[in-house]
Amino acid sequence: MTNNFWKILRKPIIGLAPMDGITDWPTRQIQISVAKPDVIFTEFIGAEFMINKPEKLKRKISFSENERPIVAQIVGYMPDAFATTVKKIIEAGFDGIDLNLGCPARSIMHRGAGAALIGNFHDTAEIIGNILRSIDENKSRGKIPFSVKTRINKDRDMTAKWFEFLTEFPLDAIIIHGRKPHQGLTGDVDWKELEFVSEIIRSKNILCIGNGGITSLEHGRDMCEKHNLDGVLIGQAALGNPWIFRETKPEVAEILHIIKKHAELAWEFYGQRGFPSVIKHFKWYCKNFSGSKKLRAALLKTKTLQEVMSILSMFDCGANVCESLECTEN
Ligand SMILES: Cc1cc2nc3c(=O)[nH]c(=O)nc-3n(C[C@H](O)[C@H](O)[C@H](O)COP(=O)(O)O)c2cc1C
Repeated sequence: MTNNFWKILRKPIIGLAPMDGITDWPTRQIQISVAKPDVIFTEFIGAEFMINKPEKLKRKISFSENERPIVAQIVGYMPDAFATTVKKIIEAGFDGIDLNLGCPARSIMHRGAGAALIGNFHDTAEIIGNILRSIDENKSRGKIPFSVKTRINKDRDMTAKWFEFLTEFPLDAIIIHGRKPHQGLTGDVDWKELEFVSEIIRSKNILCIGNGGITSLEHGRDMCEKHNLDGVLIGQAALGNPWIFRETKPEVAEILHIIKKHAELAWEFYGQRGFPSVIKHFKWYCKNFSGSKKLRAALLKTKTLQEVMSILSMFDCGANVCESLECTEN
């Protein structure tokens, strides 16, 4: 029996993309309660947290059994920091490790991490080498699968060189965002380039997972079939829309129930201090139903679980939540 979940997932694999500030434990629990993706990723975890912020690392690597298969994603720039973080991730019991080689955020790139590593063969080889060594040294429960998530490069030639380089390593999967680093998170996804890359990757028996702009399960399956991909990850289309991983749309009552549950989970996980991190989800949930604009305006002002509960109960019984919170939006 293999412990490599990538090898036993049914294709096409449709997973939830890693999203910093989004795919934390409360959001992943919400996602699973609505519809379970084939694979789930954590937000990126700084390899250097182990040295600088051990408390933050502890929170980032907590997960529940119902999330399996769950992959911990690492991002970083200090090759030596990876070994200890990988060890911690393996000890925590994750099903896979993924290396972020694609984040274009300035705060990440200016340190030489994420997308700054695309085309930097020397540093990438050192980081991957350290991760593989650490995986090998910590395989008492079987070798943890290892993937990388990256992007297509500036032109065809550079893209080919990048993926020929990556596929020299014993990777289990490569996830490719079909936008170039300068595009960030918007703009056209180059599916033709993903198809080109998939040939290089699959010829080495590595799984090839595409990513970018997927808007439904059907769209994901279609892209896999058309472009020779083993799967796709869904990112932004899942924001405030965990229902994307099932075929049926929610009734308003279910949306309200999910808002309540998400607030409760965030309160349980973060307490009052970290609770505001859930507020952005309310903005995404409150869309396209009668009264959603007013509810959104009221929820965006909340600071505690109790305030959220009281607004939801007023909404349930049809009260004017705006008046009660003195908001100006209609
Ligand atoms: C808010 C946000 C945070 C993200 N954080 C990460 C991250 O931690 N690691 C990562 O590899 N990609 C991250 N991404 C990129 C997504 O995983 C995905 O590659 C990108 O959104 C493209 O997919 P989409 O078009 O389906 O959104 C993030 C995206 C968003 C919107």
